[in-house]
Amino acid sequence: MDTLAKAKENLENKGFLDIDTRNSTDYVSEINRLKKEKNAVILAHYYQEEAIQDIADFVGDSLQLAQEASKTDADIIVFCGVHFMAETAKILNPTKKVLLPDLKAGCSLADSCPPAEFKAFKAKHPDHKVVTYINCSAEIKTMSDIVCTSSNAVKVINSFPQDQKIIFAPDKNLGDYLNKETGRNMVLWDGACMVHEAFSIEKLLSISAEHPDAEIIAHPESPSHILKTASYIGSTAGLLKYARASKKNKFIVATEAGILHEMIKQVPGKHLIPAPVEEDNTCACSECFYMRMNTMKKLFLCLEHELPEIEVEKELAKAASIPIEKML
Ligand code: 13P
Ligand code: SF4
Repeated sequence: MDTLAKAKENLENKGFLDIDTRNSTDYVSEINRLKKEKNAVILAHYYQEEAIQDIADFVGDSLQLAQEASKTDADIIVFCGVHFMAETAKILNPTKKVLLPDLKAGCSLADSCPPAEFKAFKAKHPDHKVVTYINCSAEIKTMSDIVCTSSNAVKVINSFPQDQKIIFAPDKNLGDYLNKETGRNMVLWDGACMVHEAFSIEKLLSISAEHPDAEIIAHPESPSHILKTASYIGSTAGLLKYARASKKNKFIVATEAGILHEMIKQVPGKHLIPAPVEEDNTCACSECFYMRMNTMKKLFLCLEHELPEIEVEKELAKAASIPIEKML
């Protein structure tokens, strides 16, 4: 191989030069080989692209992934999800190497709660306990009494006496839903997920009228006008469980479209319709831009080079682990 070809290959392997013509399936054997050689485990959220879900050792919702990360004996955790999820895995496994295929895979909801502003907000409510949704940064977790996910939020809130004043952050939609479910009046931080905010109620009602036999099932990060139409509201794992158990054969699913990959596998005979979004995109369904930053190529490169690695400063990790451990 001449010098130029070698330099190109080197750059391309490092992910700097994209002359790769391979498709997702070409990476499967390489990823499996590296995973075995390095004693790595691949954890993937239901919102990841299909090929990543298929190659993962474990696919789950935020709670299941945090639980899995807390008990793995692998040396390397490759977290196919977004930054706050990989950060949580690192906090729970300070001595392990935690990799995220694309370090820029953030979260609009986590970003909607900057630590300095939240600190000032918290200071205005000194007699309140703080419950934070796991979709937030480690800094926000250090200001929390307990963390929750969409699977266990009702249980976590109900673990406080009914008259205990609570701040819930960062998701106002989930917070509003929880206030109604638990009969509380929690103070809500004004944050939201851009994916769940994008559902169109007009289009949803029109699809629902076209399919009167379909049940609408929705993730609680969706706004209240969407949730009002739903027969079932739950986390991604909850939506899967409901679709399996329900006698209905048709569902309109209001959450990130990646869930449909697992749902089709779990309820093969049932008809699944992704809830429509305001703006038409190519699939007219809802995909999380951040979740989709991870690709099979980036997964392969990150396993090969053991980069990008998630680092959390020791003291920050120690403080953030307390409300996470409390939840687990
Ligand atoms: P769950 O995995 O808890 O359903 O949350 C969905 C989500 O938006 C993750 O970012
Ligand atoms: Fe964040 Fe929403 Fe994407 Fe989940 S779906 S990672 S909450 S932006």
